[in-house]
Amino acid sequence: MHLQHQRNYRFFDAPVGLMFTVDRIMGRGSLLDYGMFMQNIMVAARGRGLHTCPQQAWNGFSRIVLPHIGAGAQEMLVCGMSLGYADETAPVNTFRTPRVSVGDFTKWLD
Ligand SMILES: Cc1cc2nc3c(=O)[nH]c(=O)nc-3n(C[C@H](O)[C@H](O)[C@H](O)COP(=O)(O)O)c2cc1C
Repeated sequence: MHLQHQRNYRFFDAPVGLMFTVDRIMGRGSLLDYGMFMQNIMVAARGRGLHTCPQQAWNGFSRIVLPHIGAGAQEMLVCGMSLGYADETAPVNTFRTPRVSVGDFTKWLD
């Protein structure tokens, strides 16, 4: 598990590593927008045969990452992301997590 976690910091050997930042002045609602923006990138990547992995693991190292990428003083790190082609035969990539049914997280009002 620890070895796999460490691979975050090599972007899981992906050819492209992305860092997402936002101006600190933006409120909580903007982070919701930002999450949708990131998901659009992930969906668009799949549409082009690419894979992604959003990586919150970078956030604990924002004090190192932000100067490294030339971020301004007002920027905060939102997330990292690996972009490339997953090894779909790797055991870690064959793991499928179960999904609850819609009724388990929805309250229907009559
Ligand atoms: C906001 C966010 C942050 C994530 N951060 C990491 C991370 O730091 N490292 C990692 O290996 N995966 C990370 N993931 C990916 C998840 O571990 C998981 O592989 C992915 O969300 C697919 O989930 P599923 O198995 O439910 O389909 C993150 C996912 C999301 C949505």
